[in-house]
Amino acid sequence: MFLLCISSLFLIYKCFIPCTTVCLCPVGGIYTVIQTKAKITVDEWGENYIMMGPYYEHNFKTQVEKCEPPNQAIKAAMDSLINNGSQVHFGRWLIEGSPYVILFDIGAAAWNLDRWKGDLWNECSIGLPYHDREANDSLIFGSLVAWFFKELTDQLQDKPNVIAHFHEWQAGTGLLLSRSRKIPLATIFTTHATLLGRYLCAGNADFYNNLDKVRIVLTLQPAPPDVVTPNGLNVRKFSAMHEFQNLHSMNKAKIQEFVRGHFYGHLDFNLEKTLFFFIAGRYEFSNKGADLFLESLSRLNYLLRVHKSDVTVVVFFIMPAKTNNFNVESLKGQAVRKQLWDTTQFVKEKFGKRLYESLLRGEIPDMSKILDRDDFTIMKRAIYATQRHSLPPVTTHNMLDDSTDPILSNIRRIGLFNGRNDRVKIVFHPEFLSSTSPLLPMDYEEFVRGCHLGVFPSYYEPWGYTPGECTVMGIPSVTTNLSGFGCFMEEHVSDPSEYGIYIVDRRFRSADESCNQLTQFMFSFCQQSRRQRIIQRNRTERLSDLLDWRYLGRFYMYARHLALSRSFPSKFKMDHLNIAPVSPANTHTLSDGKDINIKCKILYIYIYIYIYIYIYIYIYIYIYIYVYVYVYVYVYMCVCVYTLLVKILGSE
Ligand code: UDP
Ligand code: G6P
Repeated sequence: MFLLCISSLFLIYKCFIPCTTVCLCPVGGIYTVIQTKAKITVDEWGENYIMMGPYYEHNFKTQVEKCEPPNQAIKAAMDSLINNGSQVHFGRWLIEGSPYVILFDIGAAAWNLDRWKGDLWNECSIGLPYHDREANDSLIFGSLVAWFFKELTDQLQDKPNVIAHFHEWQAGTGLLLSRSRKIPLATIFTTHATLLGRYLCAGNADFYNNLDKVRIVLTLQPAPPDVVTPNGLNVRKFSAMHEFQNLHSMNKAKIQEFVRGHFYGHLDFNLEKTLFFFIAGRYEFSNKGADLFLESLSRLNYLLRVHKSDVTVVVFFIMPAKTNNFNVESLKGQAVRKQLWDTTQFVKEKFGKRLYESLLRGEIPDMSKILDRDDFTIMKRAIYATQRHSLPPVTTHNMLDDSTDPILSNIRRIGLFNGRNDRVKIVFHPEFLSSTSPLLPMDYEEFVRGCHLGVFPSYYEPWGYTPGECTVMGIPSVTTNLSGFGCFMEEHVSDPSEYGIYIVDRRFRSADESCNQLTQFMFSFCQQSRRQRIIQRNRTERLSDLLDWRYLGRFYMYARHLALSRSFPSKFKMDHLNIAPVSPANTHTLSDGKDINIKCKILYIYIYIYIYIYIYIYIYIYIYIYVYVYVYVYVYMCVCVYTLLVKILGSE
């Protein structure tokens, strides 16, 4: 604990790194790690925890509260950079935990680029390509960070010590420069998903079967990681246990509204018997398993049709792609639904008013006359407006690469065009969700809560937040044994499918077998009754403690203490630190824990009843013996007295 008061902790984070060529989405799993972990880290380190990142004016204005640094040394280090022509901003990031942030303006420091490229080459023998914007930005950011650390540690003179935690390669140059300049810091580097892995897996590579044949030329010696840090979440506990079930119901109603609009004119399926499945995340078609998912959906559609199932499945693909806005047909669908709703409200008002007046007069109105000709005309016009000559669109946006887009190309191949006979309907929303959207005005969390099943059959997924997020919201999900999350669940939960975590075997089965397994999971899910789904959601939600940062944060704690003990061995020793060992096996298997609890309770009840019966019998026997002895002694005494009296009287 003493570390808390004497150490400053700095975290380099990349949450404000803009859309780049690699990643089209502004947020993703790494953003979720950094953002959600802030709270427990602030709880541990208080004001000594400071995050660092690149400055973007819009984000700063909307997400950060500007303030003065709480510490003179930080202020002096910032001033030194500012006085030398850089721009540095300080504030509190308005997220859970409100951590401090230092943000460096990359654009304002870009005039140093050539010099800093030279420094990187001279100090680390790394050259950067001339036109690579992302690499250049990362170098400017890293150079500013290393410069800042130099100034700071000069000020602090080792009191307190500083831990610098660098996330992902974009922050990596800061680490390299700090180390090459021998700045006295304890350093940590965390990679969340190696870029190399993503690229090697993308396409048709049979990555896992050919892993041994991959020859990677590295300039550095590859080292095994010191700590593997599972990703956690801030689990929200509701005061009412079933609140998350109510939230499911409320948000499902919103999705149903969207579906009413999107499928107008084709709403010949029962929304009460419609299930919502989804896949969401970075648009990496095969890495995220969208290929396997589409193929399985085609098989599911077939199964539901041949079994004449009355269940319809609407599947959402939430994966950002290049678009130029919503398409007309999707917008029109929502407009038609709105118009129908307005017409209904209008007629309802008129109907209600006439009914009220009639009842006031003491009459039951003639129902065939309560609506006039105009009302019927309005209603007929509204119904005619819902007629359409095309099928409901598969995508909600105008795609820029429509003909080559992998999801659309595969939909064309398997022929899932939202036809009337299809039991599986598809909605491809090529943009992350937002509560301000005119089409589907829900944020991602609301959307997940409203769905029935998240399907994430990833091929390359170092962790994969999306199924974990489903779990803490009590929504069942499909994952694979090639994702970090899937392996973690397999390791810690005795039978994950019992708890609504379906793990597709993509490691030891062929693609076709995995596809059949996924189809079977989804088909069985479709056969569940509402009651079974409710029970399963309760069970899924019970796993959330396993994913809580309050437990998983310990791996990061361990990493920080390890870094301190290695960098400052005379001051920090691992064996003096009261930190739980880092094996994930130390995280309790929740299922077992709960079951043990239940078993214990039953055992207590048995013991209690047993003791009770025992005492009862004991008292009963005791009373019985007591009464028996008492009566016996009493009668005996009476007889004795009587004989005595008879003797005395007889002798007289
Ligand atoms: N996400 C989001 N909005 C959306 C869809 C997804 O914020 O509309 C987030 C989701 O909450 C999750 C992240 O995107 O935290 C995806 O993370 P994951 O680890 O599954 O994949 P990655 O992006 O790291 O490959
Ligand atoms: C929640 C609500 C129930 C509702 C159910 C629908 O559990 O509390 O009132 O009936 O969701 O479940 P379903 O799986 O059919 O969406």
